[in-house]
Amino acid sequence: MKRDHSPVLPGDGATDYARYMRTDTLLDLQRRPEEMIHRDELLFQVVHQSTELWLKLAAAELTEAVARVHAGEPAAAEPLLARAALGVRLVTDQLEMFRYLSPADFEAMQPALGKGSGAESPGWRQVQAASRQLGRAFTDHLAAHGIALATLRATDPTNPVHLLAEAMVEWDERVSLWRARHYQVALRIGGHAATGAEATMLAKLVGHRFFPELWQARVKSVQG
Ligand code: HEM
Repeated sequence: MKRDHSPVLPGDGATDYARYMRTDTLLDLQRRPEEMIHRDELLFQVVHQSTELWLKLAAAELTEAVARVHAGEPAAAEPLLARAALGVRLVTDQLEMFRYLSPADFEAMQPALGKGSGAESPGWRQVQAASRQLGRAFTDHLAAHGIALATLRATDPTNPVHLLAEAMVEWDERVSLWRARHYQVALRIGGHAATGAEATMLAKLVGHRFFPELWQARVKSVQG
């Protein structure tokens, strides 16, 4: 028997898939061929736009993790952080697409980009703000439960606070790995700002940590 594909959901779109996923709107968000000054704009927009979507998810998971820690539920926060970290791993992989964007083609599309920079990415801003909130929530949780950071590494590895600290270190590392890859992309493709002060700034950011005290406590014994 033939399956009936006529939509049952409200809204625009020929199918329920189109209506729920809003594919008409989504696929209209890239410049049309007649608007483009260079055909690689599609590659450039797809990588950036899909990055924004994954970062939207990562920020939502981090924000929920913060709420769980505030509620005294570190065990519930840890898997949310794992999702966020996987999201950043996926956007790191997406940077690989820029292997196929040459410096000359990137330069040719510059007029279309205006003064735009990934540094203005709303996804990265949200993720950074949520990471800082998580750091504060974790510190508050330790204080409220009388847990000294230096003793964490020696606690049972299945202890929820220990597991959350590990997930936070993982998150920090994933962000740093994105930055290391992004730094190489910037050097390789160039653009207006890939030399001098900007390059130095990008290289420095690779070493940035949201939770430096967790990295220290992880490797330093209580006596050390
Ligand atoms: C052709 C690919 C890319 C090139 C050549 C490039 C280049 C650069 C350069 C030169 C900077 C530092 C100067 C400035 O602020 O503009 C920068 C910063 C930045 N870019 Fe990109 N970028 C690329 C792709 C991306 C993508 C896909 C994202 C994801 C949204 C992104 C996000 C950022 C962020 C967040 C910063 C601020 C520094 C940081 O937090 O690490 N960039 N980029």
